[in-house]
Amino acid sequence: MRTDTGQVFRLEDYRPSDYLIPRTELRFVLSPDSTIVTATLTIRRRDPSERGAPLTLDGDGLVLRRLELDGMPLAQDAYAATPDQLVIHAPPAQAEFTLAIETEVAPSQNTALMGLYRSNGVYCTQCEAEGFRRITYFLDRPDILSVYTVRIEALRQEAPLLLSNGNPTENGDLGGGRHFAVWHDPFPKPSYLFALVAGDLGVVADHFTTMSGRKVSLGIYVEHGKQHLAGYAMDALKRSMTWDERVFGREYDLDVFNIVAVSDFNMGAMENKGLNIFNDKYVLADENTATDADFANIEAIIAHEYFHNWTGNRITCRDWFQLCLKEGLTVFRDHEFSADQRSRPVKRIAEVRTLRAHQFPEDQGPLAHPVRPRRYREINNFYTATVYEKGSEVVRMIRTILGAEDFRKGMDLYFERHDGEAATIEDFLKAFEDAAGKDLGQFALWYHQAGTPNVTVTSSHDAAAAQFTLQIEQSVPPTPSESRKRLMHIPLAFGLVGSDGRDLAYAAADGAAVEDGVIHLRKRRHTVTFSGIDERPAISLNRGFSAPITLSVEQRLEDQLFLARHDGDPFSRWQAFNTVMTDALIAASRHIRDDRAPPFSPAIAELATAVLGDDGLEWAFRALALTPPGEADIAREIGSNIDPDAIFAAREALLRGIAQVNADLFAAAYERLADSGPFSPDAASAGRRSLRNVLLDYRSTLAGGADLAARHFHAASNMTDRAAALTVLAHRHQGTPQALEALTRFEKTFSSDALVMDKWFAIQAAAPGPAAVEAVRGLSAHPAFSFGNPNRLRSLFGTFFSGNQTGFHRADGAGYALFAETILEIEKRNPQVAARLATGLRSWRSLEPKRQELARQALVLIASTPGLSADLSDIVERTLA
Ligand code: PHE
Ligand code: ZN
Repeated sequence: MRTDTGQVFRLEDYRPSDYLIPRTELRFVLSPDSTIVTATLTIRRRDPSERGAPLTLDGDGLVLRRLELDGMPLAQDAYAATPDQLVIHAPPAQAEFTLAIETEVAPSQNTALMGLYRSNGVYCTQCEAEGFRRITYFLDRPDILSVYTVRIEALRQEAPLLLSNGNPTENGDLGGGRHFAVWHDPFPKPSYLFALVAGDLGVVADHFTTMSGRKVSLGIYVEHGKQHLAGYAMDALKRSMTWDERVFGREYDLDVFNIVAVSDFNMGAMENKGLNIFNDKYVLADENTATDADFANIEAIIAHEYFHNWTGNRITCRDWFQLCLKEGLTVFRDHEFSADQRSRPVKRIAEVRTLRAHQFPEDQGPLAHPVRPRRYREINNFYTATVYEKGSEVVRMIRTILGAEDFRKGMDLYFERHDGEAATIEDFLKAFEDAAGKDLGQFALWYHQAGTPNVTVTSSHDAAAAQFTLQIEQSVPPTPSESRKRLMHIPLAFGLVGSDGRDLAYAAADGAAVEDGVIHLRKRRHTVTFSGIDERPAISLNRGFSAPITLSVEQRLEDQLFLARHDGDPFSRWQAFNTVMTDALIAASRHIRDDRAPPFSPAIAELATAVLGDDGLEWAFRALALTPPGEADIAREIGSNIDPDAIFAAREALLRGIAQVNADLFAAAYERLADSGPFSPDAASAGRRSLRNVLLDYRSTLAGGADLAARHFHAASNMTDRAAALTVLAHRHQGTPQALEALTRFEKTFSSDALVMDKWFAIQAAAPGPAAVEAVRGLSAHPAFSFGNPNRLRSLFGTFFSGNQTGFHRADGAGYALFAETILEIEKRNPQVAARLATGLRSWRSLEPKRQELARQALVLIASTPGLSADLSDIVERTLA
C-alpha cells in the first residue's frame, strides 16, 4: 500500500520527460506467488544534445532482480533502486540505449487489484492510472508512448489462454507443460493501456468487417459455462463498431478485439488497446439474472470502452490533469450511442438524473474540483462524476454552440491533428475553434472553474407593447480554493410556450445573442426582450438540459403544471413534472418536521393521471415522469439542515396520495402492461416493464400492498420484475412474512450467482429505517459476502452509505460508526475502493447539526488513523477541510 506522503502534483509543473521509450519488450514468466517480469526498454534522449540528466523510473513496491544496460550488468554505484524508484545516475552518452530490468511480483498477494493480480485464478492486469509501475520500473506517465511486444509464458494447464494488446504473432510449446505466446501492438501507447490476461476461460467468438473491408476477429472471454451470458455484450460491441464508423467516421485498427470479463475489478471496465478488461457485471446478462438497467449499462460500457480506441488510445492524454480529454469526450460518445440505439429523450432524462445525483453533490461539496483539475494528491480519486459526467456535458455544450456540422468538423480536425499523440484540453478546444471559426475562450472556463453555476430568471409581459422580457442573472458559487469566479458562457436553450401548447414565434430578441432557440449568456446580467409576443407565455428554460446548471425561476404552479402537460421539449416536460413534485415534497417535509400533516395539491395526482393516460408518450418516459424524486434528490434541493426521516415520510405520503386518487386507473394500467410473449431487452419492452414497476411501487402503498408485491415477485419471469418486487417488499413491507419469504426464496435460488447476490445485498442495504445498520453488519458475515471483492463491497456498503438516507444517517450515529470501522477495514486490502466508499459522507455539512457532528467524528476517526493510504487520507482530509 502506498502510504500518504502528502505530495501534491500540479498542472503548472508539467514538463516533458528527458527520456523517451520508443520500444518496450516484456517477458512474463507467470506463477501465482512469483512472476518474473523482464522489461527490455529502448530508451532515447528526447533532446540528443542534452546530456547528464539522470534517468528516474517509477516503481511501486517492486523487487529488482537484475539490471543491465546495453547487455552489461550495471555497477552498484551506477544506480539506486528502491521499491518505488529506479535511478540511473549517468545514462550513457549515446542517443539511444537499452535497459533490461528484471522484477519479481506476486499476483496472488495483490489485493489492491492494481498491476498484475489474480481474479478467480485468472491472471489479469489493471494499469490505469499508475498500476504499470507495480509490474516493472518505467516512465509511467501517459505522454510516454511506446510500441510493445509481449511474450507470456505459463503452465498450459493453468493458463491455456494467453492474451495481451495488439495482434498475436507467435505461440508454441516450451516443454514441461509450459507454453508461450507473443503479442505485438504496432500502435505506440502509454503504459496505462498495457494489459495481459492468462487463464482458463471460455470464449464467444465473432467477427466484424470494417468500413474499409478489413475483417476483425472479436472475442469475449468469460468463465467456462457462462458463454450464454455474453451474447448481449457481443451484439452491443458490433453495434458500437458500426455506430462509430457512421457517426464519427472512426474505424477499428487491429486484427483482433478482445474483451475479458473478470469478477474482481476496481472500476467498471478498462479500455486497454485491443484487450478491454471488464468487471463481469458489465458483460454477463440474461433475463433471469440481469435487470433492464443492467442491459442498458452493458451496452453503454461496452460502447464506452470501444470508443476509447480513438478517444483515449489513438489520441491519449498528455498528463493526468487532462483525464477529461478522454473520459468526458468518451462519455459524451457513449451517451449519443445509447440515445441513438434507444430513446433519445428517455436517455437524456436518465443522464440528467445521474448527473444531478452524483456530480451536483460533488460540485457543491468539499470534493468539488474543475473538470480539468489543477492539482491532485492521488490521481485515483479523480475518476469522478465531474471529470466523466460534467466532462461529457461540456462536450455537449460545444456541440450546442457550434451546431452538429461544425462539431463534426472539429472532431475530424482533432483526430487529424493529434492521432498518435498525447494531447491537452487546449488542443481539443483549438480544433473546434479552428474548424468553426469561433472563439471558445470564455467557454473554456467550464474546464477550469469548479462549481455548479446558478441562473436566476424573472420575467414580465407588456401586453400593450406585445413584449416579453426575461431578466437573467448568472452566478457561480465559491468552491474549495476558488473563492472568486469568472463569468461563464452558458448556452441556455429555451422556448416561449403559448396557451395552445406551441412555441410562440417572436419577431426579435434583444439583449443577448439568441440563436436557434438558445440564449447565450456571457455577462452577469442579461435583459432579453422578445417582441411580437401578444400573450404571456410559459417559459421553458434549459431545454434538453443544454447547460449543467441550477435554475431559479420565478414560475407559477399553473405554469409548471401547464408545461408538464404541453412543453414541446420532452426533457423540459419531464422537468416540469419533476419540479412540481420536488417543490411539493420540500414543503411536505417541512410540515412533517413541524408535526403537521403534509398537504398535497390535488393537481399533482391529476397530472399523474394525465401523464399515465397520454398514449402519445413512450412507456419509459411515463415511468420517469411518474417517478418521484429520490430522498437524496430532495435533500440536495433542500441543501442544508437535512432531516432524512422527514424527507422519507414526505415521499411516502406523496406516493400514497397519488396512488389513492388514481387507485383504479393504476390498477387497470398495471394489468394492461403485464408481460406478454417472450422476453426482449429492447428499450420499448424495458419501458413497459419500468412503467409497470413504477405502478407497483405506488400501488404497494395502499392496503394489500404486500400481497400485491408478493404476487408480482412470484409471477416474475425476469430479473427486472423480480428485483422490483423484492425492493418493494424489503423496503416498504419490511419484516412482513411476504418480505421474508421473498428474500429467502431469492437467496436460495441465486446463492451461487455472485452478481445476482449483489442485488440481494443491495436491496437490503437500501432498506429504509433504523434497523438497516445492524442488517448491513449482519449481511457482511453472509457466506456470499467477501471483503476482497469490490462488487460485493459496493453492493452492500456502497449502497448503504450512498443509497440509504434514513438507515445510514440514523440519528444516533450508528451508521457513521459502521462507516469508519468498515472503511478502515477495506483500506487494508484495497485503498482505492476504500477511498471511493468514503465519499459517501461528502455531503455531511448539509445534515442537521446533531448528525453533522456525529458524521464529523467518524471522519476525524479515519483521518487520525496512523499510516493511512494516499487514497483514503486525500479523500477524508479534503472532506473535512
Ligand atoms: N478508464 C476506465 C474507463 O473507461 C476507467 C478506469 C479507471 C478503470 C481506472 C480502471 C482504473 O472509464
Ligand atoms: Zn472511460
